[in-house]
Amino acid sequence: MIRDVVESKVDALKRGEVPFHEDEVPALLERNRDRLSFTLDPADVAGCEFLFVCVDTPPTHSGDADLSRVWTVIEELPPVEAGTILVMKSTVPVGTGEKVRYGLDSRGLEHVAYASNPEFLAEGSAVRDFMHPDRIVVGAFEPEDADAVAGLYDSLEAEIVRCDVNSAEMIKLAANAFLMTRISFINEIANLCEATGADVVEVAKGIGLDRRLGPHFLRAGIGYGGSCLRGEETVGIREGEDMRTTTLARLFDHLSDGDPGREVVQTTDLDVFAWSPETCDPGFFPAVAITRRWFEGELIGVKHGFYRGVRVTPDHPFVVASEAGGQTEVRLASDLTEDDWLPFVQTWRNKRVQYPKPVPALGAPAAEGGVALATVDVIESAAVDWIVTDWAQVVELKRFPHQGWVYSLEVPGPHTFVTTAGLVVHNCFPKDSLALKQLASNSGYHFQLLTAVIEVNDLQKRRVVAKLKRHLGVLRGKKVGAARARVQAGHG
Ligand SMILES: NC(=O)c1ccc[n+]([C@@H]2O[C@H](COP(=O)([O-])OP(=O)(O)OC[C@H]3O[C@@H](n4cnc5c(N)ncnc54)[C@H](O)[C@@H]3O)[C@@H](O)[C@H]2O)c1
Repeated sequence: MIRDVVESKVDALKRGEVPFHEDEVPALLERNRDRLSFTLDPADVAGCEFLFVCVDTPPTHSGDADLSRVWTVIEELPPVEAGTILVMKSTVPVGTGEKVRYGLDSRGLEHVAYASNPEFLAEGSAVRDFMHPDRIVVGAFEPEDADAVAGLYDSLEAEIVRCDVNSAEMIKLAANAFLMTRISFINEIANLCEATGADVVEVAKGIGLDRRLGPHFLRAGIGYGGSCLRGEETVGIREGEDMRTTTLARLFDHLSDGDPGREVVQTTDLDVFAWSPETCDPGFFPAVAITRRWFEGELIGVKHGFYRGVRVTPDHPFVVASEAGGQTEVRLASDLTEDDWLPFVQTWRNKRVQYPKPVPALGAPAAEGGVALATVDVIESAAVDWIVTDWAQVVELKRFPHQGWVYSLEVPGPHTFVTTAGLVVHNCFPKDSLALKQLASNSGYHFQLLTAVIEVNDLQKRRVVAKLKRHLGVLRGKKVGAARARVQAGHG
């Protein structure tokens, strides 16, 4: 029994369609068709022995995980029999299991057991990774609950690490942080090799053959993470009574009082025009922060019509579907193709009506009287009737050299915001390193090593560009290939 809250996903799965891209999942579902059922109704899970919680746990800007979906699952739990085990697959901060235990107990569900069973798969090879895990981690409050969960994996050949719930949660976060540390470490060694005339490939090989260290994730590269839009991209905001469109750069300057040193501004009274993938509706949602970072490299210009497109870093995520109105998924700009459909928000202009209030949306003007993408002009002239979601296919993907700040907004509800040309973009991808750093700081501990790793990783991108410039001169117009380890550190 698989339960989701998004009707279109459940309908697609019932029809045998997979609403996201993951190589081996369609065949897996097909093989097990007779054993699977899909539902929106939480009551349908009542008879299940194991209840796996696999909801998304995105980060809030502070780095903490947003556990709202986990709590919804707990609240919606139907009366279940004694012996039912709630198994946490989602990535959660250390201490969540104890809180969930308390939540279950206070709902009179003391008879529901709890286990933590974090997942280590990578997107794109999910089935393969799941079937051939390096290890399986099971944390429980009672040994018999760990036995029951571990028993589910009997047919897989992998060592099972049994531990308490807090340790299981920590293993997941610490494994990701350790991986990032290795990546950043070898990148630092590569920089030093460059300065001293050593060859980092040979050095990595020599290090990796040491059995205490191993060969994995010792390939120097550009680091992990990071995704943002250039400062000229627009966004619709509401501050108190004031609604307007502005650019990300202007908004950042306004909120940071022009402080040149700031990279993050937390916001308390700012609503941003965004789009909810769950309801497919646009609206204002509270933003918790606006961020910026220095970026030197190529931006991808994404166009969905004859309008000015939006320029983002290649790893900035978009909400996409394979057809207009289809099931959405999140895909990086660098992975977009002209087969992808993007939701965008447009405004319907009707000249016969007097409009009392300007409505901020974004984009370029279209023909009078018809469907128009709202612009600053439209908003200022208040000639907007209502706002609708439409879909358009990607028509152009171009690369542009860029050197300067790139910006993003953190809108925790829908995890999106509406930008230039009405396009919907996703928030930046989460980073578990930040979650662990935040966890440490919440516990009064300053995790110096991890702070350094995050800093090294951020610096690495600038160093790589500087290095390329040293070797190639001006980079404009030159194509540079970058091999990168297939790791999305921090997502999942
Ligand atoms: N994707 C990965 O590679 C990966 C790897 C390891 C761990 N994880 C962790 O697994 C969790 C899920 O990640 P994902 O990438 O599958 O996220 P996802 O956003 O792709 O899927 C989450 C699903 O949960 C559904 N959902 C939301 N609220 C719900 C509710 N109240 N009841 C039922 N369903 C609900 C959503 O509609 C969505 O279909 C996260 O905690 C993530 O950190 C992911």
